[in-house]
Amino acid sequence: MTDEPIISITKLEFTYTHGTRPALAGVSLQIGRGEYVGIVGLNGAGKTTLGLCLNGIIPHMLMGQGSGAVRIDGRDPWTTPVREMARTVGMVFDNPEFQMSQVTAGEEVALGLENVGLPYEEMVPRVAEALELVGLAGFDERSPMALSGGQQQRLAIASTLAMRPSILFMDEPTSNLDPIGKEEVFEIARRLNREAGMTIIVAEHEVEVLAEYADRIIVLDEGRIALQGTPSEVFGEVETMARLGLRVPQVAEFAHAVRGQSAAARRGPLPVTLAEAVAWVGDGQ
Ligand SMILES: Nc1ncnc2c1ncn2[C@@H]1O[C@H](COP(=O)(O)OP(=O)(O)OP(=O)(O)O)[C@@H](O)[C@H]1O
Ligand SMILES: [Mg+2]
Repeated sequence: MTDEPIISITKLEFTYTHGTRPALAGVSLQIGRGEYVGIVGLNGAGKTTLGLCLNGIIPHMLMGQGSGAVRIDGRDPWTTPVREMARTVGMVFDNPEFQMSQVTAGEEVALGLENVGLPYEEMVPRVAEALELVGLAGFDERSPMALSGGQQQRLAIASTLAMRPSILFMDEPTSNLDPIGKEEVFEIARRLNREAGMTIIVAEHEVEVLAEYADRIIVLDEGRIALQGTPSEVFGEVETMARLGLRVPQVAEFAHAVRGQSAAARRGPLPVTLAEAVAWVGDGQ
């Protein structure tokens, strides 16, 4: 991580044209290069809106009233064309099937590159590289519709990676996947983050997974940041999270429930992953 944040958001407010209240109501946020950030919040909290503000879909394709400043890797999405922003922020959405439009997986990955006018000879190695990164090397000629949900979502990730973005925003990427598919997607995200230094932002309800992988958790509530910190700091706030209507990892819930009833529970922050819980219980013996 360098000192200069890759994402800098100041007092961002946005109300959709047909919105009844601000979707974002004054969000200030800085994200470091190479950070892995999890965003949690109830339906309507503003998670998707925040993502769309990063890649310029808002305000260029979805209209509304906005104010504040957004700076993404040196660019201002409010004044930069969307196709230009797609080179910086890759977006992956919740339903992989809806993101597929081509006959073969290779064409699917090439689509974005065609849209930015990349010459064919540069496209071929980029497609191969992107498929390789998500573990789909050799899948070029396969039909996207014949892939499993997890593979389709990896293909959607490959399509954004082909643009070589520095930031990957995944919006509930595993909500339509089975456990194996979920695991595949999070494993890819972890590798991209750790090995390629990619900045990862993921809106996700799977708090157990976020506790495992994320450096920081941001809690959105009615368009505002209600809480942020390390997974341990945020998910350790069991009562605040419950008040916000949000889940914490079962491990943290359990530790919170037994706190005060065992020697272990009296010390230190609450565990939020299974490994931390095992150490925490062990410490109390
Ligand atoms: N296209 C739109 N037009 C009008 N209002 C919208 C639009 N999209 C979202 N909203 C409103 O903006 C607010 C934030 O919605 P957003 O979709 O960003 O929340 P979210 O946290 O992603 O929710 P979810 O968990 O359901 O995906 C909500 O009040 C929602 O009703
Ligand atoms: Mg959403």
